Amino acid sequence: MKKILVTGGTGYIGSHTVVELINEGFEVLIIDDLSNSQRDVLDGIEKITGVRPAFFDFDLCDQQKLDQFFQTNPGINGIIHFAASKAVGESVLKPLLYYRNNVSALVLLLEKMKQYSVAEIVFSSSCTVYGQPDKLPVTEQSPFKPAESPYGNTKQIGEEILRDTCKAEKDIHAIALRYFNPVGAHPSALIGELPLGVPANLIPFITQTAAGIRSELKVFGNDYNTVDGSAVRDYIHINDLARAHVVAVKRMLNKQQKGNYEYFNIGTGKGLSVLEIIKAFERVNNLKLNYKIVERRAGDVEQVYADTTFANQELGWKATETIDEMMRSAWTWQQYLMSRESKK
Ligand code: WQD
Repeated sequence: MKKILVTGGTGYIGSHTVVELINEGFEVLIIDDLSNSQRDVLDGIEKITGVRPAFFDFDLCDQQKLDQFFQTNPGINGIIHFAASKAVGESVLKPLLYYRNNVSALVLLLEKMKQYSVAEIVFSSSCTVYGQPDKLPVTEQSPFKPAESPYGNTKQIGEEILRDTCKAEKDIHAIALRYFNPVGAHPSALIGELPLGVPANLIPFITQTAAGIRSELKVFGNDYNTVDGSAVRDYIHINDLARAHVVAVKRMLNKQQKGNYEYFNIGTGKGLSVLEIIKAFERVNNLKLNYKIVERRAGDVEQVYADTTFANQELGWKATETIDEMMRSAWTWQQYLMSRESKK
């Protein structure tokens, strides 16, 4: 059984990817410092798959613990590296936290890969690296724009570190997956997005508004040059995104990579506006959402959605889940969270 280390494996994208890896017969080990997730995510993974992955609770920047992990868990076949801080607004206020968690930790992990002969890594990147693309849909050849935030900068730096390392170290191979906007939850509603505090992202804010936890949703701007004036994004179901990671890991383990460093856009190829998302959420879940149009949010781009040709043809992966399923699963998960809270 091939062994995959998933850093950040109790997080939103990490936990859904762990489920898909176990379903595909991989043995999964998780390192997570629980700074932005909860230990009981392991219960959800176990209920869905019947397997409780080995879990190691420490900060990836802790060199001594990372050495101990690799020494006591030999034979790791690949790594999926999710562990990072990801709040754009917070990164502006705490840049050093982001450069430590997102850049220093990656450098340390790559050094350990070399030291313990682990060759394959899948890296969690982001469409943020493109900024506001000049041409849409955005392809993998679109240039990086100056990052709008330290968070976005850490993703650009992370990719450059991987590119340079894979060029210099022939025994390290990497695939960067550039996510668009992950939304929704596992159909079992046993795992999903767990925003701590006030959600920055659109979908958890929508579900919390529908749940009455938030009084109203603020729509950040309707004066963009888009279909209805609100900003456009490429929303992708979390399970489609999780499956992309399994495909990437298999590509590496089966030695199908063309070149030591590859990168793919992981989106649906379809852009939807904030107002279109709200309408879809209301329609699918048969409810009315309380929202108000306010001024634009600093740092937001107007429109970004993926050209998925390369991922579809070269990686052999395609998003299949519908926007209705994204909206339905997001709401079902929110209702599960509320029922769990009420039982406490
Ligand atoms: C989506 C749209 C907001 C909240 C972020 C990260 C990116 C990636 C995806 C990791 C925007 C609008 C939002 C609200 C709103 N993450 N909005 N009211 O900013 O596109 O991207 O998540 O890979 O790296 O930056 O996502 O969900 O914050 O915003 O109107 O209360 O919804 O203005 O147009 P974003 P988001």
